[in-house]
Amino acid sequence: MKLKTLHDLDPKGKRVLLRVDFNVPIDDNGDVTDDTRIREAVPTIKHLVERGARVIVMSHMGRPKGKVMDDLRLDKVARKLSDIIAMPVKKVHECIGEGVKYMVNTMKDGEILVLENTRFYHGEEMNDREFTSQIAALGDVFVSDAFGTVHRAHATTVGLADFLPAYAGLLLEREIEVLSALLESPKRPIVLIMGGAKIDTKIGVLKNFIGKADAFLIGGGLANTFLHAAGHNVGKSLCEFDKADIAREIMLSAEKAQEKFILPSDSIVASEISEVAETIHVPVHDIDGDMKIFDIGEKSIERFCEVIKTAGTVIWNGPVGLYEYSPFANGTCKIAQAVADCKGVTILGGGDTIDAINKFGIPKESFTHISTGGGAMLEFLEGKELPGVKILKK
Ligand code: 3PG
Repeated sequence: MKLKTLHDLDPKGKRVLLRVDFNVPIDDNGDVTDDTRIREAVPTIKHLVERGARVIVMSHMGRPKGKVMDDLRLDKVARKLSDIIAMPVKKVHECIGEGVKYMVNTMKDGEILVLENTRFYHGEEMNDREFTSQIAALGDVFVSDAFGTVHRAHATTVGLADFLPAYAGLLLEREIEVLSALLESPKRPIVLIMGGAKIDTKIGVLKNFIGKADAFLIGGGLANTFLHAAGHNVGKSLCEFDKADIAREIMLSAEKAQEKFILPSDSIVASEISEVAETIHVPVHDIDGDMKIFDIGEKSIERFCEVIKTAGTVIWNGPVGLYEYSPFANGTCKIAQAVADCKGVTILGGGDTIDAINKFGIPKESFTHISTGGGAMLEFLEGKELPGVKILKK
């Protein structure tokens, strides 16, 4: 897939509207707890700054649904960007209006200005033409580097391309390159590790990889739904009972395609979620009553790691347990280490997965590619054409 990229653009003296995905995790004080997405956008920002562009940065944060929410303002994100890039970054309190126009008009070549959270405006998610035209008037070109948001057809991810020449930033270009290669010519055996809480966002990927992947390793809350569908009692565990049919259909298709679809054979259960929770290690066929599954057990870890070791390609999305709490972190930690040690191509994505490897102190360089996209990566791997990528095609 050929995209228009920064190699096709001379940004000198141009006002570049740069859409990034700075939808980063923040704590109760609004401080950024994981700056991966900001760091990953820095090469594009530097590229533009060094070539004399006036860089107007746009991002959403959270889901304020058209309302101004002070805790979702981008001031702290702008400050973080300034620290990382080691240069001044200005910030305005709006995305459109006279104040913003003034700030943009007084920018010099090589300066950076961050606009306010784009989702404070209804027009953003509605891809409203009037709103988009007002933002478009601030720039000469549109650069999208927001891979994490390319599955959303919003004003600043898609609409701007109707008004301005549009290019892919360096991060977006690399994400598409790596993930396209994965779909087109993956190294075998292909192993998909899927975890996290819910089945909904994973169904498409699982289906798309049936007939392509060699093994599926299922963990997290997601596994409980499959275990239930396979006839196991999951006690009081998180489980989407209404999704049992689709789970059975997926397992049956994998079996027909002679692919391994591996569910946990043992679990770590507890009755409460806490740092001091008492845990019990049980085979999945012994789960009943009030037991709640919060992690995969040692036998499952061993089995998963064996499969990962010989993989040509590993795709990982979603932790296999409630890794945020130490009594339930062992499974995700060991799987993360096994993926890091795997000699094949290793690709992972999703906020929780990235957070987990950071928490366990596993260097990012241990993996072939860490995608900044959660939902976007999954939709891309489903084989869907993403609206924010379509507009960048040559
Ligand atoms: C993400 O974190 O996956 C992206 O920023 C998209 O956010 P959204 O799911 O709120 O559209």
